[in-house]
Amino acid sequence: MSSAAPAIVVKDLRKTYPGREGPVEAVRGLSLEVFTGECFGLLGPNGAGKTTTVEIMEGLNEPTSGQVEVLGMTWAKDEEALRRRIGVTLQETRLPDHATVLEMARLFRSFYPTGPDPMETLTRVALESKSGSIVETLSGGQQRRLSVALALVGDPDLLFFDEPTTGLDPQSRRQLWDVIRELQGRGRTTVLTTHYMDEAERLCDRVAIVDYGQVIAIGSPRELILKLGGEHIVEFAVVGATPPPEEFAGLASVQTSRTEADGYALTVSQAHKTIPDLLAKLSQDGLELARLTTRQASLEDVFVSLTGRHLRDNDEPAAAPVKRGRRGRQRSA
Ligand SMILES: Nc1ncnc2c1ncn2[C@@H]1O[C@H](COP(=O)(O)OP(=O)(O)OP(=O)(O)O)[C@@H](O)[C@H]1O
Ligand SMILES: [Mg+2]
Repeated sequence: MSSAAPAIVVKDLRKTYPGREGPVEAVRGLSLEVFTGECFGLLGPNGAGKTTTVEIMEGLNEPTSGQVEVLGMTWAKDEEALRRRIGVTLQETRLPDHATVLEMARLFRSFYPTGPDPMETLTRVALESKSGSIVETLSGGQQRRLSVALALVGDPDLLFFDEPTTGLDPQSRRQLWDVIRELQGRGRTTVLTTHYMDEAERLCDRVAIVDYGQVIAIGSPRELILKLGGEHIVEFAVVGATPPPEEFAGLASVQTSRTEADGYALTVSQAHKTIPDLLAKLSQDGLELARLTTRQASLEDVFVSLTGRHLRDNDEPAAAPVKRGRRGRQRSA
């Protein structure tokens, strides 16, 4: 896999949008490589710059600066050749309302030199019974599946899926995972963005965690989780008192300790050693346990350990923040 030429190379990518309240630095020096044949995930909170990055890779958005090479080519020189070799599912697709599902699939098939029968592609996303329906009459989830089918219909070498399963029911999500796995099995390269940690962990060979327009971590989900120093999370809460999290940092096999909602989360390497130690400490301190659970560490924990924030409930302003640590100028004279 790594011996083949990379499918995508991005170097020091920057994109600044003119915004009403001043320019928005959506992408701020982002670099990454996507290997041929892998499923690569871009993971990050709302406004991190994932869609902007993917749109630039897809040749649908102009970078402010930086280099982007796709399948050994560039959008400036090789647009026509590139279009025939990539398939795109946008985060929001507007399809012509009055065409039928099969007409759309045939139209997209005609853009490519090869590819499966359009009806076969519709079957892969479980839309065969809707082939004669007008696009306008499809549900949101069905439209999403149609846009996936349109990305598949030319059997491209490289596929982009921007939030492919957002808004899909669990069954359709799993179906789409199967589609992506099948593409992996046939050596196709896929790039996807997602908010779902479990999706990234299951599907992606490697992920880049993106925050404020930069890659803050890159690797296989397992590598990133192992870097936490512990693969298990012990979560607990105590009744009444709220000792600082550092109180628990010295327990057996604990790597990190943080407060979490109404309790604590400990990253540990050996939960069976931590738990007896924790129970002993609580009883020594006269504290009563309100709840205790253990689970496998996830990419969400990786994000929290890198940023101190959760991926899910991030509602900070999307634009690049003022750099922390440069407080000198804020002092009043
Ligand atoms: N056309 C535009 N004009 C101005 N600002 C934009 C434009 N498109 C995106 N932005 C801004 O750029 C930043 C990155 O947006 P982008 O859509 O790339 O993020 P994202 O990571 O895909 O987010 P989400 O998870 O919500 O899809 C955001 O602050 C967004 O408001
Ligand atoms: Mg997006």
